[in-house]
Amino acid sequence: MNRIAVIGAGTMGNGIAHVFAQFGYNVNLIDISDSNIERGMATIGKNLDRQVKKEQITEEEKATILGRIATTTDMAKGVSDRELVVEAATENVDLKLKIFKDLDANAPAECILASNTSSISITKIAAVTSRPEQVIGMHFMNPVPVMKLVEIIRGYATSDTVTKNIMETSRSLKKVPVEVNDYPGFVANKILMPMINEAIITLYEGVAGVEEIDTVMKLGMAHPMGPLQLADFIGLDVCLSILNVLHDGFGNPKYAPCPLLVNMVTAGKLGVKSGEGFYNWTHGTKELVLADNFKK
Ligand SMILES: NC(=O)c1ccc[n+]([C@@H]2O[C@H](COP(=O)([O-])OP(=O)(O)OC[C@H]3O[C@@H](n4cnc5c(N)ncnc54)[C@H](O)[C@@H]3O)[C@@H](O)[C@H]2O)c1
Repeated sequence: MNRIAVIGAGTMGNGIAHVFAQFGYNVNLIDISDSNIERGMATIGKNLDRQVKKEQITEEEKATILGRIATTTDMAKGVSDRELVVEAATENVDLKLKIFKDLDANAPAECILASNTSSISITKIAAVTSRPEQVIGMHFMNPVPVMKLVEIIRGYATSDTVTKNIMETSRSLKKVPVEVNDYPGFVANKILMPMINEAIITLYEGVAGVEEIDTVMKLGMAHPMGPLQLADFIGLDVCLSILNVLHDGFGNPKYAPCPLLVNMVTAGKLGVKSGEGFYNWTHGTKELVLADNFKK
């Protein structure tokens, strides 16, 4: 495979386009607006500059990589000659189902359709296409150019050939693919989100404060950052929506989102992206927020 399309030029989409282009693939990066594409390309440029500075690539290689990425807002045109499409659009079921119907109608019959979704069923996405055996989850981690893992999710109908192909493709990007089955949260979020939720419950119950909880997990468990800081990075709205998928999907109360998380999302405290979550980020650094905000 060489001709790839990436749908969505946001946080994940621009990282996915960057990595495919870095490893020699020809990429069409597609979004709904020119300004989103410009922002995505600017991020790729900045991240490539960082790689040049670290002497991982040369200035010349940077130009070659950028030259492999074409952009468009015309999805039908952008996927018409592609061998693989990786969808990384906004996490919304109805939107993804619509995109996959459109991809099915416009991408060549042999094209593999992958989704980078964090939590939506691959089987459900595949079911709206006429090629469910060619639909698969390719769950890259953030930031894509840095993180090694790609969680490869087999939908109910995904074929062995397609799975093998996508595992190989991931290895060609110098990533480590891990094959998992299509159940709510897959593996990564089925384990990570209950841990984050439990950290929030621990805070809500007054067992310890934000800094104490994060320090225990950082220094005691050798996690690179505490679960509350990680929640701020992921976005509290994203954490809440994935917990709801786990709760609905398994029908088990152990996945019920902590009321404090629900309140914070309702209040617009979404973490880094809104300026405040468990920490205040408005000054560009991590600052503690008044502890009283978090009491039960
Ligand atoms: N952010 C993360 O840490 C992370 C990690 C792993 C997986 N994911 C998953 O990756 C996907 C993208 O997340 P993100 O964080 O990059 O979101 P984002 O909001 O940063 O970017 C989404 C992009 O999709 C574009 N888009 C929306 N509808 C579109 C359409 N019809 N056609 C083309 N583009 C469209 C938006 O304009 C936006 O630029 C989601 O499914 C998310 O669950 C996110």
